[in-house]
Amino acid sequence: MVTDLHFILNDSEIQVSARPGLLVLDFLRESKRLTGTKEGCREGDCGACAVLIGELVGDEVHYKSITSCLMPVGELQGKHLVSIEGLNMAALSAVQQAIVDEGASQCGFCTPGIVVSLTGYLMEREGDIDIEGVKEALGGHLCRCTGYRSLKACHHHLNRDAGSASGVNELVDCGILPDYFSNIRRELQAIHLTSAPSLPSGTNVIVAGGTDIYVQQGDEIPDSNAVLLNRYPELRGIRDLETHLSIGALTTFEEFSNSPSVLKYIPEIREYMMEIASIQIRNRATLAGNLINASPVGDMTILLLALRAELLLKEGEIERTVLLSEFYDGYKELAKTPGEILTEIRIPALPSTSKINWEKVSKRKYLDIASVNSAAVIRTEGEQICDVTLTAGGVAPVPLILDATGSFLTGKNISAEVIRNAAAVAQDEIAPISDVRGSAEYKRLLLRQLIFAHFVRLYPEFISAEILYA
Ligand SMILES: Cc1cc2nc3c(=O)[nH]c(=O)nc-3n(C[C@H](O)[C@H](O)[C@H](O)COP(=O)(O)OP(=O)(O)OC[C@H]3O[C@@H](n4cnc5c(N)ncnc54)[C@H](O)[C@@H]3O)c2cc1C
Ligand code: FES
Ligand code: FES
Repeated sequence: MVTDLHFILNDSEIQVSARPGLLVLDFLRESKRLTGTKEGCREGDCGACAVLIGELVGDEVHYKSITSCLMPVGELQGKHLVSIEGLNMAALSAVQQAIVDEGASQCGFCTPGIVVSLTGYLMEREGDIDIEGVKEALGGHLCRCTGYRSLKACHHHLNRDAGSASGVNELVDCGILPDYFSNIRRELQAIHLTSAPSLPSGTNVIVAGGTDIYVQQGDEIPDSNAVLLNRYPELRGIRDLETHLSIGALTTFEEFSNSPSVLKYIPEIREYMMEIASIQIRNRATLAGNLINASPVGDMTILLLALRAELLLKEGEIERTVLLSEFYDGYKELAKTPGEILTEIRIPALPSTSKINWEKVSKRKYLDIASVNSAAVIRTEGEQICDVTLTAGGVAPVPLILDATGSFLTGKNISAEVIRNAAAVAQDEIAPISDVRGSAEYKRLLLRQLIFAHFVRLYPEFISAEILYA
């Protein structure tokens, strides 16, 4: 099965017929012979394949860096695909020059992807160019020979050359982008966006952001009748309603954590994101994909579980809701039919006095999945705990709500003894196994520490780490 696609590749508008599930990486390298985009891991881990995807949002084109080894070409209709070749100019771009000036490239294999991601950072940043922003942009990139110090030092050059530039035209003027970028908005507006057909039912393979399923089934999907959910815009968007936050199933981790409605409830959400995947993955990974993937350590799953989320599932004309807490029957077993599509996640409105915290411990701080993770939603009056939901991942076959621990804590005053006893109750609710992420005993210890961390972070006026460990 092939589909007709009309989009802009670098500086040229193109129309192609392609298998929708074909990877953008393979399209670029094999069909277009644009081999500046490198293939490293093919699993989203190394960043060698990074490209920019530009999309019209209202009247503006927004660009995101993504890993082309996990994105299907069928999503490119009406978009601007930018590979490293599309950033080249007669002279080096200011980003390329900064890398040269800092001696930040040796074999050069990782360099095209890094140039792409740094350019994407300059295009989408809000605020100053700083080392933290550069580190975040490079979070999804591995470099085996130069090292990261010289790459990070590029932020001085970028600040000097593009610090005051905002918007495409100013970035063109200061030598970050080639001239043709100034015309892209008009060209995208002229491309007809095919109206999305109604949501399919049936048991075809579903691809949302593709960051799990392409890692698992990357060889099979291009030749399958995979359904690309990104072609259904009704699955996008976050709405702040009186009773709940309505999160479209296609909402990505980045869209979720940048949403003012979400930030209002979870002010620390951006900090949490720094410990989840990389910007290139978070620009693609959806909340729904995290829930359906059903990993016992899904980072958003553990948070949404603590928020008592409800799911809206649809199959043909039939719709039903199910509580996330009742969605997992066993390891990777879901309370859903194979044909049901998750269309919306609903987070019930919380009292303004509720506090939220999320914790994760992994073998590596960045770009790694959790050994154990946990979230807490707690409401107190003074020192007294009125409501509490604690969740735990990596300590059972499914993501867990620690019901008995929550019941134990409810009505009690926050004190070192109460929290230590609560962590002891939690030990009877979990059944961790020893695996590559740590021994069962280690995971038990981690969960205890994370329960302590929730209270120390949320209620420093009542409890401190020193008191807990005294
Ligand atoms: C390098 C890398 C780092 C990662 N780091 C983390 C991390 O730190 N923390 C973490 O939790 N995860 C991590 N992941 C895993 C992954 O990014 C997440 O699980 C992500 O949420 C998956 O979402 P997706 O949209 O990409 O799902 P997809 O891969 O598109 O789909 C995943 C599964 O869900 C199904 N599906 C998706 N959407 C729907 C829907 N609406 N209805 C029905 N079925 C659906 C698909 O058929 C598939 O079975 C990482 C992945 C990579 C490649
Ligand atoms: S090839 Fe490594 S992230 Fe795509
Ligand atoms: S310069 Fe060789 S891998 Fe980065």
